[in-house]
Amino acid sequence: MKRFNTRKTLRHHLQQVRKDRLRVAFVPTMGALHQGHITLIHHARTLADVVVCSIFVNPTQFNDPEDLKKYPRPIDTDIRLLQEAGCHVLFQPEVSEMYGPDEHWHMDLGRLDEILEASHRPGHFQGVTQVVKKLFDIVQPDIACFGQKDFQQFKVVERLVAQFQLPVKLAMVPTVREPDGLAMSSRNVRLSATGRQQALALYRALLWIKTDMTAKAPSTLREEAIRFLESSPGVQVEYVALCDAQTLETIDEFTETRSSVALVAAWVDGVRLIDNMLLN
Ligand code: PAJ
Repeated sequence: MKRFNTRKTLRHHLQQVRKDRLRVAFVPTMGALHQGHITLIHHARTLADVVVCSIFVNPTQFNDPEDLKKYPRPIDTDIRLLQEAGCHVLFQPEVSEMYGPDEHWHMDLGRLDEILEASHRPGHFQGVTQVVKKLFDIVQPDIACFGQKDFQQFKVVERLVAQFQLPVKLAMVPTVREPDGLAMSSRNVRLSATGRQQALALYRALLWIKTDMTAKAPSTLREEAIRFLESSPGVQVEYVALCDAQTLETIDEFTETRSSVALVAAWVDGVRLIDNMLLN
């Protein structure tokens, strides 16, 4: 695996790759890699000749400075995992390589910048679009892979690509879970043994919704899931939402023609967790 820390050296390398007419797939990450990230790398390998992964803990998308400070950075393990997964190129820039001293960024994300994650993490998706646009400009991938785990983030990146008419395809990779159902996340390592057990409530709430969806209205399912989470020890719910999977707007009923998604965010053991499940 080739490693680059600067835009210039990465660009230079990728110029040669493009001259050889090789297709490039890109997997942006913030490191602390787990099997979810590695599945993205494996998927990327099926889509292109060269897989580029970035590890960059992007400060502009953290609305909580403590969360940024505590974000795990096990770089040696990450490098080993990427090598084992057959990643070809790692881009690992410093903050000063990605940002100038006084950079401002705002893009119109419409309702996506108001609902769900956006309402609890103001500015988060501005930071995500800011860094993803920069990374796409540097890597210029043919295709980029993102996880379903961050469903709203995928929608936001779709909007970024549409708005700037970027010549990149997007692939959504299903959420990878632990054997007991917990969605893999870099933040899971911060859970205590008890918190780790309590965190399962998110997955259980989503399963409950999916199992009961033919019998009940979305609003009833939502209320029941909230009640279930609120009665789960150690869990503080932020939201449960049943939404149209295209627009992410709340739905009042399930229809055959429209796919829907249930999304949940909650705090467990001082860690903010999110999860979602496609319903049909
Ligand atoms: P990060 O949280 O490191 O996630 C990198 C990619 O891995 C994202 O596309 C995310 O959806 C995916 N991912 C995380 N957990 C997953 C799981 N359990 N199953 C499948 N995919 C999973 O998302 C970010 O970083 C950043 O916001 C980034 C896009 C890199 C911009 O800074």
